[in-house]
Amino acid sequence: MTSERRQINQFLSIRQDRLFLENCDLTEIAKQFGTPLFVISESHLRSNLRRYKNAFTKYWHEGPVRIMPSLKASPLLAIRKVLSDEGCGCDIFGPGELECALRGGVNPSEISVNGSIKDREIIRRGIDIGARIVLDSPRELEMCEEEGRALNKIARVMFRIKPVLSNVGVMSDFAPDYEIRDLTQLIKYGIPTAELLPMCTRVMQLDHVEPIGIHVHIGRHSSQLEVWESLVTQTVLLTKQMSELMSGWIPSEVDFGGGFPSFPNTDPDVYVKGYSEHQIEDYAKVIVTTFRHTMATVNLDCAGITLEVEPGRGLHCDTGVHLTSVKNIKQEDGERARKWAEVDTSEVFLGVPGLSEEDPFAVMVANKTDQPNSIITDIVGLTCNAERLCNQIETPLLDCGDVLALLNTGSYIEAMAANFNALPRPGSVLVSDTVAELVKRHETIDDVLARDIIPERLK
Ligand SMILES: Cc1ncc(COP(=O)(O)O)c(C=O)c1O
Repeated sequence: MTSERRQINQFLSIRQDRLFLENCDLTEIAKQFGTPLFVISESHLRSNLRRYKNAFTKYWHEGPVRIMPSLKASPLLAIRKVLSDEGCGCDIFGPGELECALRGGVNPSEISVNGSIKDREIIRRGIDIGARIVLDSPRELEMCEEEGRALNKIARVMFRIKPVLSNVGVMSDFAPDYEIRDLTQLIKYGIPTAELLPMCTRVMQLDHVEPIGIHVHIGRHSSQLEVWESLVTQTVLLTKQMSELMSGWIPSEVDFGGGFPSFPNTDPDVYVKGYSEHQIEDYAKVIVTTFRHTMATVNLDCAGITLEVEPGRGLHCDTGVHLTSVKNIKQEDGERARKWAEVDTSEVFLGVPGLSEEDPFAVMVANKTDQPNSIITDIVGLTCNAERLCNQIETPLLDCGDVLALLNTGSYIEAMAANFNALPRPGSVLVSDTVAELVKRHETIDDVLARDIIPERLK
């Protein structure tokens, strides 16, 4: 046994034979709470958040900076409480996430009600609590006026625009068969420019709508700085067109959305990754300097503008570890010699395809960090699918009961877990220093079956 202590990142370390998250032994956490399990580091989350805030405030001096974490990336209430405690607003989609934001302590005036196909109820509730409605269509603008009038309140709205990135011939990291300039136009979200410009004239005629800002989110298409530069430039040029239709209107809040690579740049749902070493500080610099420069070029005043971003994966990805236990070892000999370590998690909990060429996650054996790799094995999950989570990786000799840690699982994965094979989904634990607390209980089989109804005639 070695007494060495080695950092994997600032919050994940190897101590003797065990993997620790902050000052908690992950093998003990697996025993205490059961596997499969999502585990999140609170200190890592706070540290990432502050890094975003510092990066943008370093460059943006004309007004406040707001970090508005995208709730969909990690909708756990306890996580939201941490971010609310850090003073963050958020981006939400739909009534469930709106409720989550409110129960998670977000200041209602700093909630952006985002998403296409909003219904009247969410628009009414958003206006009533003083949230910002991020418009996705002319239909939503009319609903804001009607609901604002009915409530005798003013609807604060932002326009979610779709600038054409005409000078960007770069392919998308997300969908590598598409050029970003085409993909960002053919995807449904945002207001098509043909509909946007008449909305600018219309908004000036309304009594219960106050246009406060511009919103743009293209997604995790590229980690190249040129793409971000083009996005910001085209956003400002379109804003100028809008301003001319709105008697010189200048947005007081400008939100450039999310889409930043995670710090380790290992997002499992992104096909092309790892090619760029840019850090969030580089994106902040490009976004701010391009914005300031282009605003000056088109004679729009930046004074007092609040600059916002809505990171999802970039904020959460490396804060999470997924724990799973080895349940069985299978082995074939002879010509087709192979080992399989069967574990109690699944591709359907992790949102990954079961036979992918590339292993989606880095894996460590949490209770054998002092042992050298001595076997080559597949790691295979629980359901009746192929479930090959890792293909022929090197590990120490594995036994039933060993705890595997899948790294960088803090964004989207928990939120997208499914119930195939009627499996109950994993719970979540939040770690802070030496304390580990359950923040979402494991689902039960009763939970899984709770919505089923057998009609009387079939009983
Ligand atoms: C409106 C909006 N903002 C921010 C995000 C976060 O994106 P990412 O996780 O790529 O940072 C999303 C995610 O799709 C989104 O829809």
